[in-house]
Amino acid sequence: MKKLNRLYLGTNTKMYKTIADTASFLTQLRQLTEDLADSPLTLFVIPSFTSLESANRITSRSHIRLGAQNMCWEDQGQFTGEISPVMLKEVGVSVVEIGHSERRHVFREDDFDQEKKTAKAAQSGFTPLLCIGETLIQREYGLSGETLSTQLKVGLHSITGEQAKHLWIAYEPVWAIGTGKTATAEQAQEIHAYIRKVLAAKFGAAAEECPILYGGSCKPSNAAEIFAKEDVDGGLIGGAALKAEDFVAI
Ligand code: PGA
Repeated sequence: MKKLNRLYLGTNTKMYKTIADTASFLTQLRQLTEDLADSPLTLFVIPSFTSLESANRITSRSHIRLGAQNMCWEDQGQFTGEISPVMLKEVGVSVVEIGHSERRHVFREDDFDQEKKTAKAAQSGFTPLLCIGETLIQREYGLSGETLSTQLKVGLHSITGEQAKHLWIAYEPVWAIGTGKTATAEQAQEIHAYIRKVLAAKFGAAAEECPILYGGSCKPSNAAEIFAKEDVDGGLIGGAALKAEDFVAI
């Protein structure tokens, strides 16, 4: 039986969409999903920073929640190139994605960076969406559990039991992101159940309510089977959601 009676579906558009692209994507998505507004579905879109202000004008009175792809852990200061929680509030963001695999592996952010960001996002009233996942080598060496539990224990170190009620986790195996390789539904369930166990050790009953999303080459042909699993509460989609109609198909 499913743990949560709500499905969470979102897309991170990475560095693919301009302001105009994002606006047309969101306008289409909003129209195509209007009939789902009252269903037990939380729909969210995480566009580029430059698109957020205009995206907010389209999503603010809709059922679509708006997210940011990253965030600095300070409100202001000498952090050239960074975006602060205050700035994200100004443009209607409610979800902050933290520790996406590309942040970790391309930009060399570590678990301690994620800890500062999740703490700040929670204190600022956002929904922190902490992304975790093991690499292929870690998986082949049997280190998936250790890797994920370290990412959770460090990344969530400063999160309180109360703040945990607003936390979302995305399990995105690095070997599956943008590669066309997906975890099987059974593999996803096994890892998600493990993640919930690690969360329960820290947060107790709140872990039962924490949405754990799957990400990594999710597409219409595999999504239903993966999302049907007990501990999989939805998905974070990249490539297969770049067109609104494809996202809706998922
Ligand atoms: P993908 O990306 O669906 O293209 O594999 C997932 C992600 O990076 O969140």
